[in-house]
Amino acid sequence: MHPESATSHETCLILPSLLASDWSRVGDEVRRAEAAGARWLHLDVMDGAFVDNISFGPQMVQTVRKVTDLYLDVHLMIHRADHYLERFIKAGANNITIHVEANYDSSVGETLKRIRAAGLQCGLALHPDTPFEAALPYVREIDLLLVMTVVPGFGGQPFMEKETMPKLAAARDYREANGLKYHLEVDGGVYVHSAPIARRNGANLLVCGTSSFGPADMKGAMAELLAAAG
Ligand code: DX5
Ligand code: ZN
Repeated sequence: MHPESATSHETCLILPSLLASDWSRVGDEVRRAEAAGARWLHLDVMDGAFVDNISFGPQMVQTVRKVTDLYLDVHLMIHRADHYLERFIKAGANNITIHVEANYDSSVGETLKRIRAAGLQCGLALHPDTPFEAALPYVREIDLLLVMTVVPGFGGQPFMEKETMPKLAAARDYREANGLKYHLEVDGGVYVHSAPIARRNGANLLVCGTSSFGPADMKGAMAELLAAAG
């Protein structure tokens, strides 16, 4: 178990997303995130089928694992996550988040169970079009609910406030009403202007690609984002 597994949903963190880093020097970029104060690093896996883009696979997760002890939050935007699961576990992921809308050889529930059985934490992600109700059958099994705040596939898109904030608030209210503990993560378009909106509606894990790796002063940018979130 990674020590960060004990992080409570009351702790607000900025998670740099590797997608926005300079891939010609990934090791240096991971160390830059570490030096900037990151505790969790977000890794976006895209298969060119579930989303309209292809990023990287387990080998990149393993590459990152070799250079850091940071908590690795792996976001699988892929079909058949259950088929590929062992490879991401072996690569050194600490949390694996799967999409409720994706196709599985088994099922969403089975896949979450396998992630936990391997000693990892597990997350469930909702596309902006997917209602919170789609997560209801799984809310007692997950460590994290990811409310996508852009259509998954690309960094640098605008934050979909109107479409996603009511859902985030509903997920927060349901958690509080039922004594559950899952983190609420937002991903996409999180900047200084949108971080406080996400925070107000219940998010504690703020994935930041462009707004964290973009600026030369990553430490300053992350501190600003955290201060804005409040
Ligand atoms: C989008 C990815 C995000 C992406 C966010 O499909 O899941 O993690 O890196 O990038 P920004 O912060 O640039 O919107
Ligand atoms: Zn992501």
